[in-house]
Amino acid sequence: MVDVKLENIVKTFDGTTALKGISLSIKHRELFTLLGPSGCGKSTTLRIIAGLDYPDTGHIHFGDEEVTYLPSYERGAVLVFQNYALWPHMTVFDNIAYGLRIRKVPREEIKKKVEWALELVKLKGFENRYPTQLSGGQQQRVAIARALVVEPKVLLLDEPLSNLDAKLRLEMRSEIRRIQRELGITVIYVTHDQEEAMAISDRIAVMNVGTIEQIGTPREIYEKPRTEFVASFMGKTNVIPARVVERDGDRITVEFGSFRLDGLHYTEKSDNVVLVIRPERIRLKSGENTVSLTGTVDLVEYYGFFTEIIALFEGELRIIARTISDREVTGLRPTNPVTFYIDRDDIIVLPKQL
Ligand SMILES: Nc1ncnc2c1ncn2[C@@H]1O[C@H](COP(=O)(O)OP(=O)(O)OP(=O)(O)O)[C@@H](O)[C@H]1O
Ligand SMILES: [Mg+2]
Repeated sequence: MVDVKLENIVKTFDGTTALKGISLSIKHRELFTLLGPSGCGKSTTLRIIAGLDYPDTGHIHFGDEEVTYLPSYERGAVLVFQNYALWPHMTVFDNIAYGLRIRKVPREEIKKKVEWALELVKLKGFENRYPTQLSGGQQQRVAIARALVVEPKVLLLDEPLSNLDAKLRLEMRSEIRRIQRELGITVIYVTHDQEEAMAISDRIAVMNVGTIEQIGTPREIYEKPRTEFVASFMGKTNVIPARVVERDGDRITVEFGSFRLDGLHYTEKSDNVVLVIRPERIRLKSGENTVSLTGTVDLVEYYGFFTEIIALFEGELRIIARTISDREVTGLRPTNPVTFYIDRDDIIVLPKQL
């Protein structure tokens, strides 16, 4: 149970740089998530924190102690893999007890600790089963119990839910959060699922090809993305390429197609920009500070508690609006004209990146 600090971690495999200088500061008792697409370096970062691999350069500290080249078993960080890696020939009890036995913990104490861990993951009564006699979710909980029973300083979870069906994923992610709070441990969690990251994390680091693009709370990352990559990675969102055509201090006018929007906030130098607009911020009524875009309805999709309107602008630009009010959308049919209104403060202007 310590703070974890990574300083400028670089890792190269056969000439390709997997990590290009990762720096992170994770607080004691925090549930911290590494989020990013396949191949961005999430597992490599976790393996380096666990001591299963070593960086080319950079430093790792657990509290005041430098652990960069300390072997895994001396560090107290335990990694749970995506595929659980339970021993098939061992019972649930023996799987969980294994780490204690190799540490030569007395038999009576092992029994107590395994029982404690089973209770924690709600698997009491399953001690004599074999992994093949368990569901995916139960196997996953055994893997977590096995990691927790050695009382790690840091628990590392690498896509622990990816083998589970959608419903079980939701249940298990709440379970992980509960166990983390109950034990007050530091958890570093890896996922490529932005919704899972948002739901479970205290803070998130969004990674992109070996670098960290942004670190923040789920709310900060969602509402104030600092790069185009982060904005487009965080769920369904509108990212519209545009050009700055006028500047007045930090207020700008942009153009895309034949549209012209003024009074937007922007402080960067580049004139090639994207406008980031969350679907739920688009309205069908004008307001005091709104800009408007008129196009035609392409699709209206009803989801129950909200409806999405996908509209086409000048035949090619697609913008999604999401509204929770049914009344507003009645009467809207494909090919009908529609005007979207967006508060200027809800348009995030970022330098074009991708
Ligand atoms: N042992 C290795 N040898 C060579 N290249 C590797 C090795 N391990 C990882 N890489 C490369 O390093 C990069 C980062 O890999 P990593 O496994 O950390 O990605 P990831 O973010 O965990 O992806 P995923 O979501 O698919 O699990 C990838 O380009 C990968 O091919
Ligand atoms: Mg991985």
